[in-house]
Amino acid sequence: MNDPWEYPGELYEIIRAYYRDLQAETDFLKSYGLKRGDYLLDIGCGTGTLIRKLSLDGINCTGIDISRSFIRYARSRLPSSESGVSIPKLSVEPAQNLLKKITLSQRYDVILIVFNVLSYLESFQQVESLVKKLRTTLKDGGRLVLEFAMYLNFVPRFASNMTVNHWDDGLVINRAITHHIDPYNAMWTHEEIMSVISGRTTKIYPQRYEQLIITPIWIERILRTCSYSKIEAFTNWHKGNRLSDESTCIFVCTV
Ligand SMILES: C[S@@+](CC[C@H](N)C(=O)[O-])C[C@H]1O[C@@H](n2cnc3c(N)ncnc32)[C@H](O)[C@@H]1O
Repeated sequence: MNDPWEYPGELYEIIRAYYRDLQAETDFLKSYGLKRGDYLLDIGCGTGTLIRKLSLDGINCTGIDISRSFIRYARSRLPSSESGVSIPKLSVEPAQNLLKKITLSQRYDVILIVFNVLSYLESFQQVESLVKKLRTTLKDGGRLVLEFAMYLNFVPRFASNMTVNHWDDGLVINRAITHHIDPYNAMWTHEEIMSVISGRTTKIYPQRYEQLIITPIWIERILRTCSYSKIEAFTNWHKGNRLSDESTCIFVCTV
């Protein structure tokens, strides 16, 4: 089995676009006053999709991710240094490393952990420690944005086996997915065979990863315990808060 997330970044970009509305995500962040010259850290930045867009508006972005392939792709897509563009800083680094550093060299206006990255940490304890640590890394008035899948909402849609297809420019990505839930430990295992068909060539990328089943009430309790304030919760990037089968969970808070 490959390391999870070690598949070509261009495939991730196709899959991401299938689930996400990049414009809604950036509009959401800008509604909190994110502006040219601000410093933003994206933890688990994937292929750098969000920070690539924000850097075009002069936001100083740093992205870290555990995937060498995704960071390689993100580096290959860096914007050119035209006036007004801020070139993102990218590194291959697990989020857990932030816990080992006593202080980070930079303080940020915004820190993002979005599109389920929290669920890929190794333990609930790590999530809690990271959220606590990030408080010291935000500037006064800075914002932490956390987004995770509302797993309880997946219950009506739970499928132990599913197939998802993505098409893009002569390429077909066929994902055969199996899910197992371990309710006692609140863990969700995702196993996947990703077949990528291009012309007469097929490449296979097997994936397996464990996910922590995170609930809003638990995250809210951590944020309050760590003395974050102005805690807001939304169920989509348009700032809605009605639950639906498609709901995600976004928390925004400040220090
Ligand atoms: C669903 S993707 C989301 C990526 C990105 N935030 C986005 O919005 O496109 C999950 C990401 O988490 C990264 N990841 C998983 N475990 C991680 C860890 N321990 N530290 C840092 N990144 C991690 C993966 O490599 C992958 O890029």
